Amino acid sequence: MNETVKFAVVGAGHIGKRHAEMIAREPEAQLTAFCDVRSSEECQTSEYLVPHFASIEDLLNSKLEFDVVSICTPNGLHAEQAIQVLKAGKHVVVEKPMGLTRESCEKVIYTALQMNRQVFCVMQNRYSPPSEWIKEIVSKGLLGDIFMVQVNCYWNRDERYYKQGGWKGTPDLDGGTLFTQFSHFIDIMYWLFGDIDRIQGKFADFNHQNTTAFEDSGFVSFEFLNGGLGTINYSTSVAMQNLESSITVIGSNGSIKIGGQYMNEVEVCTIKDYTMPELKASNPANDYGPYKGSAANHNFVIKNVIDTLKGRTTATTNALEGLKVVDIIERIYKVRDEQLIYEN
Ligand SMILES: NC(=O)c1ccc[n+]([C@@H]2O[C@H](COP(=O)([O-])OP(=O)(O)OC[C@H]3O[C@@H](n4cnc5c(N)ncnc54)[C@H](O)[C@@H]3O)[C@@H](O)[C@H]2O)c1
Repeated sequence: MNETVKFAVVGAGHIGKRHAEMIAREPEAQLTAFCDVRSSEECQTSEYLVPHFASIEDLLNSKLEFDVVSICTPNGLHAEQAIQVLKAGKHVVVEKPMGLTRESCEKVIYTALQMNRQVFCVMQNRYSPPSEWIKEIVSKGLLGDIFMVQVNCYWNRDERYYKQGGWKGTPDLDGGTLFTQFSHFIDIMYWLFGDIDRIQGKFADFNHQNTTAFEDSGFVSFEFLNGGLGTINYSTSVAMQNLESSITVIGSNGSIKIGGQYMNEVEVCTIKDYTMPELKASNPANDYGPYKGSAANHNFVIKNVIDTLKGRTTATTNALEGLKVVDIIERIYKVRDEQLIYEN
């Protein structure tokens, strides 16, 4: 119980360095290595004073001691690398999305069970105060029967984001807008209301023909298995900056809207015989210069890994939930792939 939890980080880009920073800040954790196909100079990680490995094989075959590996590489590598880590007998933290297919995520879970190791998925938006609050409201049934849930994600991702030769926008390594930009919000919806079925959709590519291999926008509608209708309306075609990420819930006992740019502000709460408490301030969004991402809550993720491995709690987002988000997106994309995408 007193030993520090030793981490290695694979993929030392934007989010890998964020993992490293959060690990370095935790008194019970230690960063032991980086692994990236780029050099430590190129990744700008020399300040951490830990060994740098040029491949995951080199890292796993080294004599270095570590307990957990954070996978922070492009989406299309997550499942395969998670399996390699588990087979080496280490626990794994997988950045979102857990994989790009349900089948690949099932293989991760199978390997984790075989090796008796933990898989932690990163869905740090669950720690935002409005998310924790609405989870409690929904779990207690305060909204009554759920009639309608609407998730709106309208962001800006333009040439400043999609770099020539990069992995973002590619079919195999990125996988699609719902995987890379909006899986956090699909996770929140699934976490609150469960699985969906009878999916329909309309998809468009308004202004990403030169930057991505897939749609930038969609209107998706469905039914919840637990009752109620839902929609996800999303786009990365918004000009200049993110517009909103919101969830609106209409229930028989009341309604809630959480909005703001990052689903970070409770805009409406009208529930019978209920007074809204004051919530803690949300962490700001991850800032990548010209564009912004989801809430900067990775400190909670790393703390949860430590606490789970020390037997104090359980994983906030476990592998089954990580798989379910991938499964939902895969089924939405199956609908997309059965029709023509609208273009201007
Ligand atoms: N949780 C969040 O809010 C959040 C935010 C941003 C990104 N992400 C996820 O984190 C992952 C990385 O995103 P990013 O923005 O940091 O990308 P990035 O391009 O900045 O970093 C990816 C790194 O992986 C390295 N890499 C590529 N192939 C490799 C391999 N085979 N082995 C080792 N290293 C390899 C690249 O050289 C690069 O340094 C993505 O899956 C993304 O979806 C999550």
